[in-house]
Amino acid sequence: MAQARTAKEQDGLSPTLLRWLAVEPLTTGTILDVGTGSGRLALALAPRARRVLGLDVDAGALVEARRRARRAGVGNVLFVVADAEKVDYRSLGRPDCVVSHLCMSDAIVERAAAGLSRRGVLAFTAFHVDQWRETGRVSRFAYDEERARAVLAAAGFRVEKLEPERKVATFESDDAARRAAERFREKWEADDRWAGWERFVAEGGRTLTESRLVVLARRE
Ligand SMILES: C[S@@+](CC[C@H](N)C(=O)[O-])C[C@H]1O[C@@H](n2cnc3c(N)ncnc32)[C@H](O)[C@@H]1O
Repeated sequence: MAQARTAKEQDGLSPTLLRWLAVEPLTTGTILDVGTGSGRLALALAPRARRVLGLDVDAGALVEARRRARRAGVGNVLFVVADAEKVDYRSLGRPDCVVSHLCMSDAIVERAAAGLSRRGVLAFTAFHVDQWRETGRVSRFAYDEERARAVLAAAGFRVEKLEPERKVATFESDDAARRAAERFREKWEADDRWAGWERFVAEGGRTLTESRLVVLARRE
């Protein structure tokens, strides 16, 4: 039962990231999951780890993460409220692996570089600049391949794997396109994407792109 729940909680996590992490020896040290949210990635890795620490600035999300951990019978994960762009990762038990799923910034790369020892792993999925490109707005947290490589190299990481993960949905009509995006409406109205999406559809656009960048890098 606990296993079935853990598998379900992996739904929506990057399959590429999970595949790469599946062959990393994670069993002996501490894994730090930054921007853990409701703990999906932390809980997915817990069965293979000695200890996982999930960080998030959102205390409410961590209440849900702890509830999920209890429900799944996972005892080696701790969730802590902290700003991943400011906290010293060494003060959190010297992680030997820093992971993140959709919470990445240059400051987090720098914090990870300062907190990891040589050969320590930073593995993450970030929004790609093509994420929801049809809305005409790029998230300030999004990366393209070139910028990700540059930021990682400047911080002292050697990139071992870097791949985009992309899904482009195509719709038969403007109605179908609008219906598909309805679930994002509230968020897109709040972050000024909705008007751009409406314009795109009105001008004949019939696609919606989801795009992420998956990276595994090692501290030199
Ligand atoms: C898109 S959600 C991803 C959550 C989770 N990793 C997942 O994939 O389910 C981004 C998360 O990062 C958190 N976050 C954003 N900035 C942060 C920061 N500076 N330090 C810690 N957490 C942060 C947000 O509160 C949110 O829970």
